[in-house]
Amino acid sequence: MGDTKTYTLEEISEHQDKKSVWILIHGKVYDVTKFLEEHPGGEEVLLDQAGKHATEAFEDIGHSTDARDLMKQYCIGDLCEVLYSFVITWKTRKKIIEIEEKNHWPVGGGDESSWKNWLIPIAVAILASLLYRFYMSYHA
Ligand code: HEM
Repeated sequence: MGDTKTYTLEEISEHQDKKSVWILIHGKVYDVTKFLEEHPGGEEVLLDQAGKHATEAFEDIGHSTDARDLMKQYCIGDLCEVLYSFVITWKTRKKIIEIEEKNHWPVGGGDESSWKNWLIPIAVAILASLLYRFYMSYHA
């Protein structure tokens, strides 16, 4: 697990043209270059999302569990930003959860872990702001 490669938003955004297409879904980075022609939804939609955050677009379609299994093979790593959860707004996040629940794909695999989806990012944000204040008080 420690070997998972991580990428920044900047690196991901460099893969926007047909030669290399990366997309970001639920904090995971997918290299879909070789999948473009095979995608049942067409390559255009993937190209539209190239180098971007495609979670909402992906969930809006209501992709099947087969599609979710299939995507694993294109996963090349994780987004490295610690505050990833804040990259997508609360509104988007809420919408994704709604869609996932409607489609019976509970976020994070069920009730037990769903609270972690918001508690952990909040804890990280509080910690980050405390560290920042602490740092500033010494370097003001
Ligand atoms: C690695 C990422 C992706 C994989 C493996 C994937 C796979 C699939 C598969 C297997 C289908 C057939 C229907 C199903 O089984 O759900 C499908 C349909 C579709 N996908 Fe994707 N997809 C990916 C990303 C995306 C993204 C980012 C979009 C952005 C909008 C998208 C848009 C669509 C559309 C529009 C359809 C057609 C739905 C329909 O005809 O009803 N897909 N995809």
